[in-house]
This record gives sequence, C-alpha cells and structure tokens, in this order.
Amino acid sequence: MTRVLMVSSEATPFAKTGGLADVTGALPAALEKLGDEVAVVMPRYRQIPWDETESAWDNMVVYAGATAYRVDIRTLVHKGVRFYFVEAPYFFDRDGLYNARNVDYWDNHKRFAVLSLAALGVAQTVFPCDILHSHDWQAALTPVYRADQQHANPLFDGVKTLLTIHNLGYQGRFHQSQFPDLGLNAGWFTPDKLEYYGDVNFLKGGIATSDWVTTVSPTYAKEIQTPEGGFGLDGALRARGDALTGILNGVDYEEWCPSTDKHIAANYSAADLAGKRACKKALLEEFHLPADNLDRPVIGIVSRFAQQKGFDLIAGIASFIEENDVQLVVLGSGDWRFEKIFHDWQRWQPKKVGVWFGYNNGLAHRIEAGADLFLMPSQYEPCGLNQIYSLRYGTVPVVRATGGLDDTIQEDTGFKFSSYTVGSLYDALRTALGAYQNRDSWTERMRRGMAKDYSWDASARAYSSLYERLLGRG
Ligand code: ADP
Ligand code: GLC
Repeated sequence: MTRVLMVSSEATPFAKTGGLADVTGALPAALEKLGDEVAVVMPRYRQIPWDETESAWDNMVVYAGATAYRVDIRTLVHKGVRFYFVEAPYFFDRDGLYNARNVDYWDNHKRFAVLSLAALGVAQTVFPCDILHSHDWQAALTPVYRADQQHANPLFDGVKTLLTIHNLGYQGRFHQSQFPDLGLNAGWFTPDKLEYYGDVNFLKGGIATSDWVTTVSPTYAKEIQTPEGGFGLDGALRARGDALTGILNGVDYEEWCPSTDKHIAANYSAADLAGKRACKKALLEEFHLPADNLDRPVIGIVSRFAQQKGFDLIAGIASFIEENDVQLVVLGSGDWRFEKIFHDWQRWQPKKVGVWFGYNNGLAHRIEAGADLFLMPSQYEPCGLNQIYSLRYGTVPVVRATGGLDDTIQEDTGFKFSSYTVGSLYDALRTALGAYQNRDSWTERMRRGMAKDYSWDASARAYSSLYERLLGRG
C-alpha cells in the first residue's frame, strides 16, 4: 500500500478545461481499488462550493522566500477519494482557471507556486505520503520546493516525487523578472534547472528535479525526446531518459458508456445497436440539421480549438464537405480563428454543418453517441481521450497517427494517416467514407472498437508498480 498525494490544477467533477481533469478525477479511485491510499490537492476555484467542503487545516502559512501566504485547507471525499482544496481567494476566487477572455492571469506563476507549496504543507500536516505525484506545469514546482525547502526535513525522508506530463505544449514559462517571486535561490535559475532561454520554466524545473517523469502514452514518451516533438525541452527530457516512461491513460467507463449514459437519447450496446440510430436522429435535430436520411454519415468533432488538434488541416477540407453527402457536427471553443472557420461553414452549408461553441459535457456525450465518425487529426496528441470514448460508442475514429492516437487506434478499429497534410486527411476521410458504404463490415468495425478495453485498471496498475519501484519495493 502506497500513500500518494497528487497535485493538480484540475480534476473532474470540480474543475476541468481538458483531459487532465478526467485523469486526476479517475486515476485516484482506480489506485484506491488496488489498495493504494490517494488524496488530491487542488485549488478551490470559485465554482467549487465552499460550503460543501469542511476544514482540514486553518491558517496554514507557506513561504515563497520572504513572502508568506496564508491559506486554509478545505476537504471533502468524492467517490471514496479525499480532495484537499487550497483556499486562497486572492488567487483562486476568479472566473477562470488560468485566464480571463483568453488572457493569462498575470500572477499565474505565484498562483501555482502556492499550489505546490500548499501541497507540501498538506503532506506535512494532514496527509503524510510516500509519493508526491504532480501533474503538468501547474504542479511542477512541487518537487522543486521539496528539494529546496524540505531537503533537511525528516518528514520527507524517503518521499519520492513523480511528475506526469499531459501536454508539453504548456510549460509554465514566465519572464525572468518573475523568478524572485518564487522565493528560490539563484542556484535554481540555471539551464539545467528552471532557466530556459532567459525565462523561468516551471515544467523544466519539474523534469530536472522529479525522481521520475511519466507522460500519458508510450509513443508520446518517445516523441517528446525528439526535436520535432520536444517543444524545446527534448534535451532536458533526453537527459532524464532513463527515468522517463509512458503510461497510457485509461477512461472512465462509468461516465462514458452508451449502455448506461444518461445524457443520450437512447442507450445501446454492441449487441443491440438500435439505440445508436435514435441518438443520431436526436443529434441532428439538436443541431437543426435535416434528419431525413439516417444512412448519411455524420462526422463529429469535440475539441478544444487549439492548433494542437489539427484545425488547420480541418480548415482545408471544405471541399470534402461540399463534394460528399455527409454532415458535420462540431462542439468546441478556444482560438477564434478556428471558431470563425466553423461559423463560416455553418452559414455556407446550413444543411450539412452544425456547430455549438462553448463547453457542454452533455452534448459531448451526444456527439460521441450520435455520430458515425469521429475526427481527430491532431498535430500532436499526448494521449487523447475522445478517440477512446468514440471507440466505446461505436463511432469510428479518423485520426493522425501521433502519440496516444497512434497507440489506441488500430487499422481494424479506425482510420489513421501519418503525414500532417490536408491531402492525407482528405485521403483518410475518403477511405473511411468508402468503408462506410459496406454496412456489414462497418458494423463489425464498430463492434471491434466497442470491445476494446481502456479502463483505468491497467493504467492504475502501471502507476502503482512504478510507485513501488520508486520506493525501492518493486
Ligand atoms: P485535451 O485534454 O488535449 O483537450 P483530451 O482528448 O485528452 O484532450 O480530453 C478532452 C476532454 O475534454 C474530453 O473529456 C472531452 O470530452 C472534453 N471536451 C473538450 N472540449 C469540450 C467541449 N467543448 N465541451 C465538452 N467537453 C469537451
Ligand atoms: C492533455 C493532452 C491529451 C491528454 C490529456 C490527459 O490535455 O492534450 O492528449 O489525453 O492531457 O492526459
């Protein structure tokens, strides 16, 4: 049994901007099932009701150098997992998690430094642990502060640190003038630690300092050690090459399963697919698209509108939509350039293209259920969850063979292409539409995808044995 304290800026159901929250919302419970004891530290953002939490520790004072921050630690248990919320209204009582109207908060470096400091406070007071497991740049200073402030603290003797990278595209990079705010001595501001081309880089500090680094798929673990996939940190990652592995994410089938899903028009399973047709009809109606011919293929997209997700390729396939008898439903938000593309398409092809801008969990489920194909031509993808949900919903993924997309989609369950070009995406879609015409083999393909099992159990086992190994027990 290992006691693990996870540190994260997001976790479902409390705060989510992407897949990180799905992981930190589900992995702890899966580890608990295996016998580990896991708690999660995260900020108490505005949308997390204070009065549903109770006090775990009042008036904790943490120090970034000479600056003292007073925080309270609030707590609750969700689905058997204990959450500790860092109550610091001056940092977290805001509308957004990281930004307002797409502009990052100016004090993010302090906000997330304090998250890590408070996590170390939790480890010293209410949740002594064997492993400090931090996620992404927002929690990447945890091993740094542990090495800096706590190296002589017997309470941390033998405690091991693990950093999981969910997306190397986000590193927590700040101007060097902000370094003093972290309260670390100048020895940390060197190219083998936090310094990066004159800036401060949180993730780099975490990579250099953690006992082990993981990322969220085996293929991505290799890609990030190359100049093409390393976002400038490939050297730092190669330097940790013998302590860097990929553990594929699982998905939460309690949330994402067509036979029990409460968000969709009709439940269905591999044995009885009738409900999927009802879901397709309801989806088209929800998007005010003609539902006159349910044999016409519907392509779904659910995504953050970010460069990473391949929208510049999607922008290039307007003629595919025009030339083929297909319908496209899109849910997402983010970069206005990509919003504009879909906005234009919707006006141009109102019978073929339906768009919903914003965040809508129920609709994400209904697209997974109602579409025939799911499009995810990412430029890079550390793991990706939507394509795994799609498999379970019998919605055949069309993906670029990168990172976790390459690891989770095979030729017999989806359609993959390699080179990041509009032409390759076009070809993959054409092949998929051709295959769709043969209903029997298509249904077999759906069923093969539905039978795939990416539940958390296998991933949790991999994390659990890694913890054991780090502690010298494995
Ligand atoms: P990433 O974390 O890079 O955004 P993932 O595929 O790992 O990509 O996870 C995305 C998660 O966010 C999925 O659970 C997906 O359903 C959800 N999601 C993304 N955009 C939206 C949206 N606009 N509305 C609802 N859910 C969304
Ligand atoms: C990131 C990645 C995504 C991954 C998720 C959860 O947001 O972009 O690929 O699935 O984290 O690990």
